[in-house]
Amino acid sequence: MTSGRDQTTKLIYKLSENHRLDLEEYVRLVSSVLPEHVELASSLAVQARDKSYGDKVFLRGLIEFTNYCKNNCLYCGIRSGNKEAQRYRLNEQEVLGCCSKGYGLGFRSFVLQGGEDVEYTPDRIARLVELIKKEYPDCALTLSVGEHSYAAYKDWFDAGADRYLLRHETADSVHYESLHPASMSYGNRMHCLHDLKAIGYQVGCGFMVGSPGQRPEHIAKDLLFMQEFKPHMVGIGPFIPHKNTPFATFPAGTLEQTLFLLSVVRLMLPDVLLPATTALGTICSDGRNLGILSGANVCMPNLSPFAVRQKYELYDNKVFAGDEAAESVARLVEQIEDLGCHAQMSRGDHVSIDLQKNTKEEFYV
Ligand code: 5AD
Repeated sequence: MTSGRDQTTKLIYKLSENHRLDLEEYVRLVSSVLPEHVELASSLAVQARDKSYGDKVFLRGLIEFTNYCKNNCLYCGIRSGNKEAQRYRLNEQEVLGCCSKGYGLGFRSFVLQGGEDVEYTPDRIARLVELIKKEYPDCALTLSVGEHSYAAYKDWFDAGADRYLLRHETADSVHYESLHPASMSYGNRMHCLHDLKAIGYQVGCGFMVGSPGQRPEHIAKDLLFMQEFKPHMVGIGPFIPHKNTPFATFPAGTLEQTLFLLSVVRLMLPDVLLPATTALGTICSDGRNLGILSGANVCMPNLSPFAVRQKYELYDNKVFAGDEAAESVARLVEQIEDLGCHAQMSRGDHVSIDLQKNTKEEFYV
C-alpha cells in the first residue's frame, strides 16, 4: 500500500502506527521535509491528540517570578553575563497575588518559572510551594527553576509541587557544551531529569528548534531521547536570537520546522502534554494557533505582574501582551474554540495520572 509513497511519508505513517523509530530513521524523517509532509504529520497528530485528550486544550497560568540567573547559557537573554538585563524578583506575597488573580480568572494550574536565582534558596522555594498549595489545594503547581539537587527536588515534591519542567535543550553532549558555559554539563542535566522522574513528578523536557549548530542528527537524538525517557510534557519552541548574547546574529528557528516537530512529538508520544509556546507565538502572530493545529494541547498565558513582564526577556521581541496575557483569557478561549477545540482551566494532569487517581478512587470506595 505504501509502495508509491516517498520515504518521509512512509516514516510519518510508521511513527503514527508504532510511536517509535530508530535513530537513523529519525535523521531521515527530519532531513527532507516538504510542505505536504508537514500537512500529513499535522493531520495525523491532531487525530492522535483527539484520541488521548479529545478536543481539550489546557490552560496554565505562567508566573515568571525571577529573572536573576547564576547561569550564563549562550542563547538566553537572562544569562548572568547580560549586564543590560533589568533584573527583578517577585517576593512570596507578589507570587501569591499572581495566583489569586489567576484563580479569579478561573486558572487551576500554575507554572512557577524563574532563573537559577541564588536568593531563592531551595528552602525558600519549598516554603513558597507550601504557601501556594495551602491557599490553592485544588490547583496543580508546576515548577521550572532549573538544575538542583535530588534533596531540593524531593523537598519541593513533598511540599506539594506536582510537575517540573526542565528542557534538556539538546540530547547531544557536544552540542550541549556549545550552547552552555563550562560550568554546566549535559550529564548533570540528564541526571536532574532522571531524579525528577524517580521522585514522582510529572516531568517535562524539550529543546529549541534551530538552535545554533543544530543539525538533523541532533534533532534525531532529541527525538530518540524523548522516545525512551517518556516525558509527561514536552516544551518545543523556535530558537530566537537575543541581542545581548553571543548568539545575537544567528537566525531564528523556522515556523515550519517547529510545527513539524510538534506533530512528530505528538505521534511519538500520543499522551504527551504539549504546549504551543510563547516563542512560537513570537516568530509568527498566528503561531500559537498553528501549534494547536499541529497537535499541541497546552497554552500558558502570562500571569506575571504587567510591570515585570517585559523584563523576562529570554529572546528579542518576546510577546507578553495581547493574547499571551492571562487577562485576555476570554479571547484566548474563543480562539481555541474557533480552532474546533475546548479550552480547559482544570488541573490538566497527564492521562496516566488521571488513570492512577481513578484506580485509587475505585480501590478505596
Ligand atoms: N530562544 C528561544 N528559547 C529560549 N530559551 C532560552 N533562551 C531562548 C532563546 N533565545 C528557552 C530554553 C529554556 C526555556 C525556559 O526557554 O529552552 O529552557
